Amino acid sequence: MEHPESTDPAAPEQQVELLKQRLAEAQKLTALGELVSTTTHEFNNVLMTIINYAKLGLRHRDAATRDKAFEKILAAGNRAAKITNTVLGLARNRAAGQEPTDLTRLIEDTLLLLEREMNKYRIRVEKQFRPIPEALVNGNQVQQVLLNLLINARQAMPGGGRLLIKLSHDPEGDMIDLVVRDFGAGIPADKLPRIFDAFYTTKAGPDTSGKGGTGLGLSTCRDIIESHRGRIRVDSTVGKGTAFTLKLPPARPSGTPAALGAPVAHQLGMADSPTVPG
Ligand SMILES: Nc1ncnc2c1ncn2[C@@H]1O[C@H](COP(=O)(O)OP(=O)(O)O)[C@@H](O)[C@H]1O
Ligand SMILES: [Mg+2]
Repeated sequence: MEHPESTDPAAPEQQVELLKQRLAEAQKLTALGELVSTTTHEFNNVLMTIINYAKLGLRHRDAATRDKAFEKILAAGNRAAKITNTVLGLARNRAAGQEPTDLTRLIEDTLLLLEREMNKYRIRVEKQFRPIPEALVNGNQVQQVLLNLLINARQAMPGGGRLLIKLSHDPEGDMIDLVVRDFGAGIPADKLPRIFDAFYTTKAGPDTSGKGGTGLGLSTCRDIIESHRGRIRVDSTVGKGTAFTLKLPPARPSGTPAALGAPVAHQLGMADSPTVPG
């Protein structure tokens, strides 16, 4: 159709581009806010331990009590150092590049940031890690995905419960599988297709730990996994829980020919649900 007086045809595209940039900014700010909240609380917890054991050591002058106090203070100090190192790593390495990464370690580092939070909400974290090859990822970004999934899982179990993290190598598609499974509320089938939409949330607002309620967590996860040519999929049963599966590429493809288009859904016994193609 000809509209000689219509405005520049590029305008709507520019607007979409602008909105995309705004969304990316909102996603980053939300992530940063949650990280600050998490680390501040975790750090405060460590400080409390140090202060209390220092007081104990000053009050009780016997060698046994003082040894114990120093050991606790040392352990807390080491934990504090690890927390700051992780956060410094996140802040320093803002580059978008992907490099061979040890996902097992990345998960451990991420869990370290959530230790106090998981204890507070009575979440028992179980790990099932198989030996896996290095993944070709951006560590910061995958850590962000993990934080979002772990916090969602925690929020799905307000009374506490089990949170399972699985890591394995799927030789068929030659991908690394990372599963975050909770045994919480689950997601009704009619809501499932919307959960990756930006700003879609069923939460009233941030919880007592200042997290959630923005609807930006899973949209961030999806964008990050897409940029890795990976996949994210969800499998959920109301009343039983939810599993998010990430498929990430290995740093060095294994010799076996990759089974392209393998029936992953059947393999994993998952219902057909929103999947981001690679
Ligand atoms: N593990 C989960 N269990 C149940 N519901 C979930 C889970 N993860 C996400 N959801 C649903 O998806 C919605 C969007 O999640 P998200 O994008 O992280 O935003 P937010 O956490 O801010 O609500 C949540 O509000 C919730 O309804
Ligand atoms: Mg969330």
